[in-house]
Amino acid sequence: MTDMVGQEPQYEVFADEFLDHARDGLYNAHCDRPACLDLLGDVAGRRVLDVACGPGLYAAELVARGATVIGLDHSPRMVELAGHRVPAGEFRVHDLADPLDWVPDASVDLVLFALALEYVDDRVSLFRELRRVLRPGGALVFSRMHPTGDWLRHGGNYFDERIVEEVWSKGWRVRYWLAPLEQTCEELRAAGFLIERLVEPRPRPEAAAIDREGYERLSREPTGFLAIRAVPDPRP
Ligand SMILES: C[S@@+](CC[C@H](N)C(=O)[O-])C[C@H]1O[C@@H](n2cnc3c(N)ncnc32)[C@H](O)[C@@H]1O
Repeated sequence: MTDMVGQEPQYEVFADEFLDHARDGLYNAHCDRPACLDLLGDVAGRRVLDVACGPGLYAAELVARGATVIGLDHSPRMVELAGHRVPAGEFRVHDLADPLDWVPDASVDLVLFALALEYVDDRVSLFRELRRVLRPGGALVFSRMHPTGDWLRHGGNYFDERIVEEVWSKGWRVRYWLAPLEQTCEELRAAGFLIERLVEPRPRPEAAAIDREGYERLSREPTGFLAIRAVPDPRP
């Protein structure tokens, strides 16, 4: 196994299935999205860069709340789905391995980067790019798989940064980075961010009706996601 996740747009083959899964499901609709939207705060009148936008579920909510959204994703099908869902948004195919040279310096108020950190090989360079495009006073909100859940599934040394391959319950094949929480914090620091808030989202109560067992598990175990709001470090 090489030490890169690589350039394959992994979600392309199951983009439509991901949309069906994430639209109303326990993990995305009732844990991750409420947490990140809360961390973003009031987005009315704000320009938001939706990084790894997927099928536009976040973008739809952001536009409904009064934001202007530009989004990107590696998967052309995801970009197509996002464009259909959110005609007011601007979406383009972009691999996060490449610089965001089409986004000017200090041109967005907020960056949202939900559930895709795991697919990026050079995360410090990406965080630096996200800092570059943020206006002064802006913030980055991102989420990732909870590292404790990763470790419980994969075992081994929690502190070893490594690539794993999994086949998820729907048959989706994914290859992604495991990294301890400390590593994510260090990558943010190296890119010039300060962590303002870190949350370990539990499902919203209404999710119990969708999946009682999953709801109870995610209400007591750190096996879902975590989400961070970080701001550019103003110190020289
Ligand atoms: C779990 S989905 C999250 C989608 C969306 N952020 C959400 O939460 O609904 C991960 C997304 O990351 C995208 N992605 C993975 N690797 C990427 C890369 N190198 N560059 C850009 N997008 C990438 C995938 O195509 C997929 O849409």
